Amino acid sequence: MCGVVGYIGKKQAQSFLIEGLSKLEYRGYDSAGIAAIDNGTLSIVKCKGRLAGLADKVKENPVKGTIGIGHTRWATHGEPSDLNAHPHTNCKNTISVVHNGIIENYLSIKEWLSSKGYTFKTETDTEVIPNLIDYYYEGSLLDAVIKAAAKMEGSYAIGVISTEEPDKLIAVRKDSPLIVGLADGEYYVASDIPAVLNKTRDVYLLDNKEFVELTLDGVKLFSEYGEEIKKDVYHVTWNADAAEKDGYEHFMLKEIHEQPKAIKNTMTSRVMPEGEIKLDDIRLTKEEIENISKIYIVACGTAYHAGLVGRYAIEKLAKIPVEVDVASEFRYRDPLIDDKTLTIIISQSGETADSLAALRLAKDSNSRVIAVTNVVGSSIAREADDVLYTWAGPEIAVASTKAYTTQLIDMYIIALYLAQRKETISKLELEQIKKEMLALPEKVEEIIKVKEDIQKFAANNYMHKDIFFIGRGLDYNVSMEGSLKLKEISYIHSEAYAAGELKHGPIALIEKGTVVVAMATQEYLYDKMLSNIKEITTRGAKVLGFAFEGHTEIAKSVDIVKYIPKTLEMFAPVLSIIPLQLLAYYMATLKGCDVDKPRNLAKSVTVE
Ligand code: G6P
Repeated sequence: MCGVVGYIGKKQAQSFLIEGLSKLEYRGYDSAGIAAIDNGTLSIVKCKGRLAGLADKVKENPVKGTIGIGHTRWATHGEPSDLNAHPHTNCKNTISVVHNGIIENYLSIKEWLSSKGYTFKTETDTEVIPNLIDYYYEGSLLDAVIKAAAKMEGSYAIGVISTEEPDKLIAVRKDSPLIVGLADGEYYVASDIPAVLNKTRDVYLLDNKEFVELTLDGVKLFSEYGEEIKKDVYHVTWNADAAEKDGYEHFMLKEIHEQPKAIKNTMTSRVMPEGEIKLDDIRLTKEEIENISKIYIVACGTAYHAGLVGRYAIEKLAKIPVEVDVASEFRYRDPLIDDKTLTIIISQSGETADSLAALRLAKDSNSRVIAVTNVVGSSIAREADDVLYTWAGPEIAVASTKAYTTQLIDMYIIALYLAQRKETISKLELEQIKKEMLALPEKVEEIIKVKEDIQKFAANNYMHKDIFFIGRGLDYNVSMEGSLKLKEISYIHSEAYAAGELKHGPIALIEKGTVVVAMATQEYLYDKMLSNIKEITTRGAKVLGFAFEGHTEIAKSVDIVKYIPKTLEMFAPVLSIIPLQLLAYYMATLKGCDVDKPRNLAKSVTVE
């Protein structure tokens, strides 16, 4: 996720570009840059780091021009650096582009353009865009952008300026947001409304594949076939803070809703309907994989819970023994690591001090280290041998949601990749698993749409002091994450127990009215879970049960059932965690807690 802005008017563009970007920094902040055209000359200033660094730079060396574009980056392709920062240009330095999104077929476009003599200087997917526009340019910038967009697969919101037509700004979007701000003789583009709210409240909310041409005379809209189209102006009545959250009351709720897209992005170009799992990010040879005698998965908090699911998937599919540990324990317990050990560090931020220390310990003991992280260029990403990114976009709420589900996806991908290389699954099995995996975003969407039952359960139970979660197998792992979500944002005391362990102690806590969330998605453990549920309901527990659609037997034993769309048992955590995130969210809001910034917690824990 990145932020883009653009301006055309009578004033110097720089001032709006910096101000507009400052409102979009929540979309990413590992580098920033602006470009403007003055007297037919394109000038660009960009640098690694936060926008403040760029603002200082342009104070000393202003970028001149009354037409310009700007970008704040959240790196995906290519580490955060001055070179990879946007705006990017074609090799002739005549066309400049800012881009939010991912061009999924950039490698094939790059190859094709290289065969036509184009050269590239960055590691980004974006750099193909100005060169593609250059290739198609025959006297109309708009036509060239339309032709280039037709070649591009993936998601994009782009702003384009060119010295060939220095009085025009062209923009278009597909699956990444873009709006156009309309003021008197001044026109803007931006990824999000807050960027322009100080200038205007009249905007066009662009739909997919709508092209805009901004000149001093006004704004024209075009279809992908180049026909001019008309669109209603939207008048903004709400305030900037709400808009940054896309109208959601909290970032956590927004991030819960972003999960279908985040999961889809994380599978992009790795899990495809046809063929093998593609993992260019991990450079393990078949021989190296066959040599692995043991895998350690090490992480903290929510990432540790994703690791537990990862263990199940790797052992089941790739038949390699896995140990999962919390980083603060692992680093001090003399784990048995050697060059046959593979260590996987999971960390949303890539900066957690204990996880980083665990990574260094593993490397010092000659273990190959794979990082699973959400932040490109983070310490853990830099120090690991290989990195598999989660494409969740910046996660702002302290309670992790979309990072967790995308970490799960990365763990499944690793498990499948190892299994494929070791030939521990057949081609047919792989095809079936991939089919189910690719259907997950839609099923997550389906769950998110129906939340009234969870809201009602939250409303009836948020005053309780203790809530327990139980499950077996993967359901136990999800229970741990559900329980963590609840306690961290609602401050309700909560524990997760392996349902089979109840009778060894925890059942002593059950009395009339005790609230228990019971997860029963795992078919092979279903009957056993039903017995465990009986054990607690006979002692007075009030139970919210979870099962796959069609498994209606559970309804006889619990107070309320939440049915989850059917998928492979292995993927149940991706779906069953969603209502648990929502349950924690609604309980916390009903209690009036500061959901996005819970007391005593931090998003990234960089101290021991
Ligand atoms: C903190 C956060 C958690 C997170 C944990 C690990 O405790 O509040 O949400 O799961 O750190 O963070 P990491 O960035 O390494 O995943």
